[in-house]
Amino acid sequence: MALLRSGFIALSKNKTLRHFMERSRMGVKLSSRFIAGMTIDDAVRVCDSVNKQGMAVTLDALGESVTDAAAAHRAAGVYHKLLDAIAARKLNANVSVKLTQMGLEVDRGLAEGIALDLAKHAASFNNFVRIDMEDSSLTQVTIDIVRRIHAMPGLAGAIGIVIQSYLYRSEADIQQLLADGIRIRYCKGAYKEPPEVAFPKKADVDANYVKLSKVLLDSPVYHGLATHDEKMIAAAKAYARERGIANDHFEFQMLYGVRRDLQRDLIRDGYRVRVYVPFGSEWYPYFMRRLAERPANVLFIAKNLMRS
Ligand code: FDA
Repeated sequence: MALLRSGFIALSKNKTLRHFMERSRMGVKLSSRFIAGMTIDDAVRVCDSVNKQGMAVTLDALGESVTDAAAAHRAAGVYHKLLDAIAARKLNANVSVKLTQMGLEVDRGLAEGIALDLAKHAASFNNFVRIDMEDSSLTQVTIDIVRRIHAMPGLAGAIGIVIQSYLYRSEADIQQLLADGIRIRYCKGAYKEPPEVAFPKKADVDANYVKLSKVLLDSPVYHGLATHDEKMIAAAKAYARERGIANDHFEFQMLYGVRRDLQRDLIRDGYRVRVYVPFGSEWYPYFMRRLAERPANVLFIAKNLMRS
């Protein structure tokens, strides 16, 4: 299982396979299980339909690790259009952004400037930008950038971050972010990390998830618990009940195409759910990380391959 996970994470960085998959009709068809489509119009259509099912959305214009400033500005342009589209159509949605897509590995100042502009644009509509968390080499710089933007006048409500339960450092990071009043999406973590920085055993990642979810639920800030794990969800629900924490004080978050049954059940039971909806032509690394998370997805994809 761990081998399969590492294999898919390694493949997610394979440029040749990526080139082939993103350009082939078969690849696009297979990815449609997890990806809303290729264009802003596709994303808006899916967002509207998810909203009609009673769930909020966060939109992700797929892309990461750009290697020049022009590509970072192009990616930022898509997000500015998205923020306009969300406001124009009154969608219940915010956006999720990766700093490496905004040029973090080209020039940190470039990525910070773009993230700042996006937060200002979001604030002008009372909307919100979630900065996704990438691998552990970028944790500190991501936290630093989010804290600086959050501290600027008028932007406290416009930016939030993601913390991963597999990292040893997360407890301390959460304490610091909570002291600033920063909104957190809490997930287990999707990258391959060495044992020096992350719990190698899934049981420890899960235990840390439950432990720190409680800290988030107890805080006065509105957070998102991003998981499809029924045990994590049950633990959060039980803790909220025990402490008298209202259902609208936090939200569960799940990925588009994953555990739709669970998403519906939560809505039926009066919880808030936000669906992470990715779209765009650069879907390959995201798609491969989803396969890494669940080997059964590979069977699903294989069956579709046989049919196509
Ligand atoms: P876990 O992996 O233990 O799975 C529990 C159960 O959930 C599985 O048994 C299966 O039933 C179901 N499941 C999980 N993944 C599935 C899949 N891909 N397909 C089908 N079923 C699946 N990571 C990160 O490093 N940085 C980030 O910014 C984000 N952002 C983010 C946003 C949102 C809204 C979500 C839901 C997740 C992320 N993640 C992320 C990914 C996260 O770190 C993690 O890899 C996945 O959510 C899988 O972990 P689970 O908590 O679902 O549990």
